Formats: sequence, C-alpha cells, structure tokens
Amino acid sequence: MKHILSSLQFKKEDLEKILKRASVMEGQCKSGKIKKLLEDKIIACIFFEPSTRTRLSFEAAALKLGAKVISAENAMESSSAFKGENIGDTTRILCSYADVVVIRHPQAGVVEAVAKISTKPMINAGDGANQHPSQALLDLYTIKKEHGRLSNLQIAFGGDLLNSRTMRSLVPLLAFYLKNKFYFVSPKELAISREFRNYLTKNKISFEETSNLEKILSKVDVLYMTRVQKERFASSRTYEKVKDLFILKNAHLKFLKKNAIIMHALPKVNEIEADVDLDSRATYFRQAQNGLYVRMALFLYVFGL
Ligand code: CP
Repeated sequence: MKHILSSLQFKKEDLEKILKRASVMEGQCKSGKIKKLLEDKIIACIFFEPSTRTRLSFEAAALKLGAKVISAENAMESSSAFKGENIGDTTRILCSYADVVVIRHPQAGVVEAVAKISTKPMINAGDGANQHPSQALLDLYTIKKEHGRLSNLQIAFGGDLLNSRTMRSLVPLLAFYLKNKFYFVSPKELAISREFRNYLTKNKISFEETSNLEKILSKVDVLYMTRVQKERFASSRTYEKVKDLFILKNAHLKFLKKNAIIMHALPKVNEIEADVDLDSRATYFRQAQNGLYVRMALFLYVFGL
C-alpha cells in the first residue's frame, strides 16, 4: 500500500516516473482520449481546511480517470468532527467506503499519524505548515515544463517562508538534481525555521538567506512567491504587522531574466501586484492547471497502475 505523506518519501526514480506519467496524462487530456483506468475505484476527499485547487483538482483527476468521488469540504463543520469524532475514527470509516483517502488537515503530522491505522492509501493534501507533497510534484512538473530541466537552476522563494509547506515540500525534490541553488528571501519575522536551516546544512544544500528581493532578482531562474499564511498566526495583530512587508511589484519585473518564471501555489492575496499577472513569466495559473495532470498521475502511482 502506497501512501503519499511527504515529499521526503520519494526517491529520484519515483519523481521521474510520476513526471513522465503526468506528461502522458496531459497528452490524454488535451487529445480527449483518456484511458478510464479507475472505473472501479471510489476516491474520498475530506478537507478540514479550505481549498480550491487541491480538492477540486484531485476530484477532477479522479473523475477524468473514471473513478467516483465522495467528498467532505469544510469538514471541521460539516463532518462528524464537529460532534467531536476523532480523526482516527473518521479515517477508519472512510477506508471502509473508499479505495483512497485524500485529506487536508490544519495539524502538522496528522495525516502521517492516521496513515498508520489506515487500511487504504492516504494522500496528504496539506497538513498545517508541514507538508504538501502533491503541490511539490506539480511544482516540479511545472519547472521541468517551463525550463526544460530540473538541474542547474537558481531558485528563490519569497514571502512567508516560516509557514510555507509548499517551500518545505519542494526544496527536497529539487535537491535531488545537480547544481541547484536556493535563495530564501523574506522579512526576518518570516524567515525559514531553524529546523529547516539545519536540514539544508545537514544535507549540504546550497542556499543563501536575504531580505533584499531586488538583490537576487537578476540571478534567478525561478521566483517562487508565497502567501503570508494568516491562518498560521497566533494573533491577527501579529499577522497585520507582517502581511504587507513583502510584495512583488510590477516595477521589479525589469530586473528579472527574460526566461525566469514566477511561481505561486495560490491563492495569492496581496503579495503579487495584480499587473504582474499580465507578464508572460507569471506561471502560476499554468502551474495550477498542471495540478490536474500530476494528480491523475499520482492516483495511478498509488494504485500501482
Ligand atoms: N495550492 C493550494 O494548495 O491551493 P488550495 O489551498 O486552493 O488547495
């Protein structure tokens, strides 16, 4: 049984397999000739935190492959969690109805914990500020598609790096490839955690930290912006203090390389000026579209097809 819990679980050959399959899925979607390989499967999606892209693209991916979908959105309110049911019991029940369970939860580590008692594959669709492995895979697919390579890249992450599960999930995947260098650009209040810094050092991953966006713009092939994660702050006062400290402006674009790409997992709020959307280097809507193909590939990977 294959769970998808963390990007740290993958070997390089898994990545190559999933990316290749995602490309086949993209081809099938575009030609309208999709092999309905999951016709006998039921996919359960239960989301205890809000989502647009992740839940709907997992569901669309399942439907495209012929599976049936059962779904609980806003599950803190709309599932029996509201009545006090614990996540372990909920998982046991979902496993008796579905062939795979896709779950998002605000608490870091919860999906990994319930996977231990699960009788069906579990897919972590984001657990707190910890991991978002399917996002990391679609980001990898996007970079490969846009740049034609996954090595020899200068990659900057900007914004709320303290709380970004997206950044934390993608870096280990890009670290498989040679000569990649990372820049972590943020106000000091939102800088990478000590634990993540130790991970980078221990794994000999080349990186620099700075708060100066202008300084690194001309160097990077990928600028990955992140949202200030309001829901992870202990108080709204702390959030208000930092929420507008780091914004990519239209005026910044002249410093970026012509073939650089601007990524964002979305939703974006105020961290990218609206005009930036019109620049051909703004990749985030294409990136979200790629989520469909990658999640189709992930279902096939989980079922060993
Ligand atoms: N990228 C992402 O996880 O988006 P949603 O929160 O809309 O699912």
